[in-house]
Amino acid sequence: MSDSMAQGAEAATDGDINFRSRRWVRPEDLNANGTLFGGSLLRWIDEEAAIYAILQLGNARAVTKYMSEIDFVSSARQGDLIELGIRATAFGRTSLTMRAEVRNMITRDRILTIDRIVFVSLDAEGRPLAHGYTEITYNRDRIPLG
Ligand SMILES: CC(C)(COP(=O)(O)OP(=O)(O)OC[C@H]1O[C@@H](n2cnc3c(N)ncnc32)[C@H](O)[C@@H]1OP(=O)(O)O)[C@@H](O)C(=O)NCCC(=O)NCCS
Repeated sequence: MSDSMAQGAEAATDGDINFRSRRWVRPEDLNANGTLFGGSLLRWIDEEAAIYAILQLGNARAVTKYMSEIDFVSSARQGDLIELGIRATAFGRTSLTMRAEVRNMITRDRILTIDRIVFVSLDAEGRPLAHGYTEITYNRDRIPLG
């Protein structure tokens, strides 16, 4: 896929959130009520936040430190298409704080929000490492190479 196509696929925005990732709700993602299992959704969000943090902090050793209150405002059913959006809200010395939102792609109903997800950049010994960044990059200039 060309870079311009990739950017086009990421272009859907709502306020300050870019909806970057899409999921199809499959039978293995359902709870006993027949709706989307919260654990599956949290796994997808943590993975999406990890990728976002790695690309912002330029370090593959970025780990989840903290998640604020999680508000499941509505659900999704088997076959629904949902989209996940993550955006950095604060750069610390070693940390990155992000906001997450998930919504139904078709109805645009909000499924979940998490106001604060904090990832910390680590060194090879697992200690917090200063990342030196203060602003969001929209390019691929911080992809860790080593
Ligand atoms: C990440 C870890 C190394 C941080 O250790 P620590 O002793 O808290 O380190 P520090 O006190 O130096 O804090 C590091 C950063 O995290 C932030 N932080 C620490 N506790 C926090 C909390 N409860 N909420 C939000 N941010 C927090 C600090 O503000 C600091 O950010 P800054 O440098 O940008 O100001 C350690 O907690 C750890 O290894 N946790 C397990 C991480 C993990 O394995 N996650 C995967 C899920 S199991």
